[in-house]
Amino acid sequence: MSMLRDRMSKIQYTEKERNTRVRKNQFAAGKGGMAGYAKKSQPAKRMNDYLDLNDDALVRYPNPSIGVVVPTLMNPFFPKMLSGIAETARIQGYYTEVFNAAQDGGDWTNLAARFAQGRQQGLILAAPKVTEKIVRLLAETEPMPYVLTDQADDVPGALRVAVDDTTGGGLVVDHLVGLGHQRFAIVCPPQLPFNMAARYRGYLDALGRHGIPRNAVTYVSAPLTREAGQTAAARIVKLPGITAIITINDDLAIGVLKGLHELGKRIPHDYSVVGYDNTDLSNYVTPELTTVNQPVMDLGHAVADCLLAKIERREPAVPATLPVELVVRASSGRAKLA
Ligand code: RIB
Repeated sequence: MSMLRDRMSKIQYTEKERNTRVRKNQFAAGKGGMAGYAKKSQPAKRMNDYLDLNDDALVRYPNPSIGVVVPTLMNPFFPKMLSGIAETARIQGYYTEVFNAAQDGGDWTNLAARFAQGRQQGLILAAPKVTEKIVRLLAETEPMPYVLTDQADDVPGALRVAVDDTTGGGLVVDHLVGLGHQRFAIVCPPQLPFNMAARYRGYLDALGRHGIPRNAVTYVSAPLTREAGQTAAARIVKLPGITAIITINDDLAIGVLKGLHELGKRIPHDYSVVGYDNTDLSNYVTPELTTVNQPVMDLGHAVADCLLAKIERREPAVPATLPVELVVRASSGRAKLA
């Protein structure tokens, strides 16, 4: 506790510094297209006041924060990644603020306007589509340190903390081919964000290595929700010969399990289903889901460490691609003989 206080006292800003930061971060009318925004901004002193409900006493103090842009909060992966980020940030005296890109309905200007409040010292970008626009906007105003991860689009030269998704995709296919499967459905959205594109490449590379012909693999398009997985199951059961279903994340897999169950299919007797993420839900479904574990808490810690190093002008220790592992559970089994 006292260490935290010591740390915070070092990073508190003087009133003048805070006001300067707010002014610098306001978008010039006509430049960032945010005319009128500057008028609405609050005095920095009030914006930097936080009530810390996790503290052992309720204390009000000025504290800097980092922002994290996620694509959704509906998938359990992101709250867990945020917990890792917040844990590391808090130890180092920073608060974590979450920006849910989905909530802004794709209107990135809303998101960007909120960064202009001057509260965040840096950003972690984990959502697709908004990345480039945010990065461009930040470059036009005061450059703010940022780190990319997970679904963020690629920005040449930017620092990224990544998980080894290509290997992860390969592990799924190796496992299923090892169980004798020869015909596959891959369930995923038509436009894949950065990390999932690597995962998908991993599936295809491994299928190629095992000599599985392209026409033995059917791509089933579905957005990243459990409902879409459930609907996809109805399409898959109409496809002849498929015995293995690969979904690009656990949420889709959980929906597929439910859909297959409703259609009277037995898992893994009729179909093997393999997800990706190892979210906390994956061993609470029946049958328990075979999946790929992503080190989500470690990812959160590592990405926050890198950002905080950049904010404090230290050399960030960017980790090598974080490792994944296959978690074999009851939803995968030997392929049914044709
Ligand atoms: O399930 C959520 C997915 O979105 C995960 O696979 C994670 O990598 C994120 O991109």
